[in-house]
Amino acid sequence: MKKIVILTGAGMSVESGLSTFRGGGGLWDNYPVDMVATPEGYAANPGLVLEFYNKRRSELLNVEPNEGHRLVASLEDNFNVTVVTQNVDDLHERAGSTNVIHLHGELMKACSSREPHNLNYVCTLPSPDSELHIGDKAADGTQLRPYIVWFGEDVPLMCDAIQALDDVDIFVIIGTSLNVYPAAGLLNYVPAGVPIYLIDPNDVNVTRRGVVVIKKGASEGMRVLIDEYLSK
Ligand code: OAD
Repeated sequence: MKKIVILTGAGMSVESGLSTFRGGGGLWDNYPVDMVATPEGYAANPGLVLEFYNKRRSELLNVEPNEGHRLVASLEDNFNVTVVTQNVDDLHERAGSTNVIHLHGELMKACSSREPHNLNYVCTLPSPDSELHIGDKAADGTQLRPYIVWFGEDVPLMCDAIQALDDVDIFVIIGTSLNVYPAAGLLNYVPAGVPIYLIDPNDVNVTRRGVVVIKKGASEGMRVLIDEYLSK
């Protein structure tokens, strides 16, 4: 089986009803990123940060995967697929994808405030009662915090994502502005000669040449990718 690696971003979940981060009405227009998505913001006002992610989680519990997620999952019938997502939602998994690397963490999980990457202290939050509050403790006795990689923090799963590209045959990018590193840098690890497809309804600044742009939303773009490029 040929191997496909798919890098996804917030645009993947737009058709499910979730917001992107940048652009008109994006999340970072309405919430100061320094306050809700950095270790410094968390240290200054942990309650505000917990509330921000409680709200994101409650939104997530009320949406469903869209056709784009389902088409990505369906590729597993014919390809060896690794999804590398910047998204913290679980919509790829709920659509049936079985091999998903969450570079920026997972909204439905919580971790230790002292050692956020220590998997011994990572737990899955119950749903629907998934709110985190001041006083909730991780197994190491520290405050439970969202299992999210904030700006300025390490991205430990980047190594796994780069490794997935070792023997890749096809690389696909869906719904990311490619503004945030190191995730955006994954493109530079795609070996020469591997076809690269980019699905996005808007213009994306790609530094690499030879990328086939499918200028459509995630669902329609996935249909085009499958029908016109992968079925041959
Ligand atoms: P952005 O908000 O930067 O970019 C979203 C992309 O989705 C844009 O290129 C849009 O054009 C595109 N888009 C919009 N509607 C779409 C649709 N229906 N189908 C497909 N694409 C569509 O989001 P990301 O690139 O994912 O990190 O942002 C990367 C990281 O920055 C996030 O993981 C988050 C954020 O800060 C953290 O929170 C650590």
